[in-house]
Amino acid sequence: MSALYANVDVVPISRRQFVQLSAAGLAAPSMVACSSADELVIRPDGVPLSGFTAESTAFDVVAGLDLKDRNILITGGTSGLGLESARALAGRGATVWLTGRSLERAQIACRQVGGDCRPLQLELEQPESILACAQRFKQMATQLDALVCNAGIMVLGERRLVGAVEQHFAVNHLGHFLLVHHLLAPLQSAPQGRVVVVGSSAYKWAPTAGIEFDNLDGARDYTPNKAYGQSKLANALFSLELSQRLQGTPVTSNSINPGAADTELWRHYPRWQQWLLAPVKGFLLKTAPQAAATQCYVATAPTLASTSGYYFEDCNPVVPPAQVRDAELAAQLWATSERLLQPYL
Ligand SMILES: NC(=O)c1ccc[n+]([C@@H]2O[C@H](COP(=O)([O-])OP(=O)(O)OC[C@H]3O[C@@H](n4cnc5c(N)ncnc54)[C@H](OP(=O)(O)O)[C@@H]3O)[C@@H](O)[C@H]2O)c1
Repeated sequence: MSALYANVDVVPISRRQFVQLSAAGLAAPSMVACSSADELVIRPDGVPLSGFTAESTAFDVVAGLDLKDRNILITGGTSGLGLESARALAGRGATVWLTGRSLERAQIACRQVGGDCRPLQLELEQPESILACAQRFKQMATQLDALVCNAGIMVLGERRLVGAVEQHFAVNHLGHFLLVHHLLAPLQSAPQGRVVVVGSSAYKWAPTAGIEFDNLDGARDYTPNKAYGQSKLANALFSLELSQRLQGTPVTSNSINPGAADTELWRHYPRWQQWLLAPVKGFLLKTAPQAAATQCYVATAPTLASTSGYYFEDCNPVVPPAQVRDAELAAQLWATSERLLQPYL
């Protein structure tokens, strides 16, 4: 277990969090089984609280900050939380590098964002595209102040392979692992670089083993929720191991859960669940600007300059369940990811 979580405070789960878990449960019945109103939010010792809440927006958490000299790269900026994050950060003067699966889509999104927003092409399924994206950034900038690993898929459908691995693991985890690897130099050139990995409470859907290293192609007992859950657990474990490896440098690594939000992510859910959710989602789900708040907060808050290896929800640090803090599993995931990506590292 990571030593970071040795001392903790316990506070009750917020009403909003309960509502969000319920909302996610409405759209994904399996989540109901692993969530309960009795859950407690546990705070780690020594990490500052923000004063922000689940209702705070990305614009609230950066209000008053001067981000003029910051380069912030956001993956998956063409919709949802990535797009809202870009809007908030560019609005405070940051140079936002926004990725889209095609350059054209990234350019369109940048026009929506305004400010100093620079489009980059990035397809996380393709290592060559990831290398080219990192290379392009490094040609145009020397320092990267924050990298927000936000892009993600939640696909309800048949198992699909990307190379030798199942697509959720490939896109949500391996793609970002490779991107971070190739952007470590500019992160280390920044006065205080930050990696923010966007996970999800769907880590609860991960298989009992956490990461099924002997089943990364998902051939055994595939379900979309399990695959998504495993990839989101991998996000948090990757961030944890990265924080260990960055110890002694000014670069920090933290992961976050944005909370269930009304975005394009749900587009693959069955129509009946979308239909059920549609009339009530304004009450039950966070808005995209609210869900984008935590990643913007962790990417920029001056109080978090030396906070690394933690997990955040609703703009505050929480202690996630043991599986999400499993240092041994995190190290094993790192070694496996390196092996799978060896030709590209
Ligand atoms: N919304 C929620 O309820 C919720 C809850 C918990 C966690 N999250 C996490 O939050 C993050 C953002 O999700 P969102 O809700 O904003 O979803 P979204 O609106 O669907 O946005 C996802 C972004 O990722 C991009 N993307 C997808 N596949 C990609 C690939 N292969 N290569 C590069 N980019 C790719 C998408 O590009 P295209 O537009 O081209 O597809 C889009 O820009 C995800 O990591 C998700 O797991 C969301």
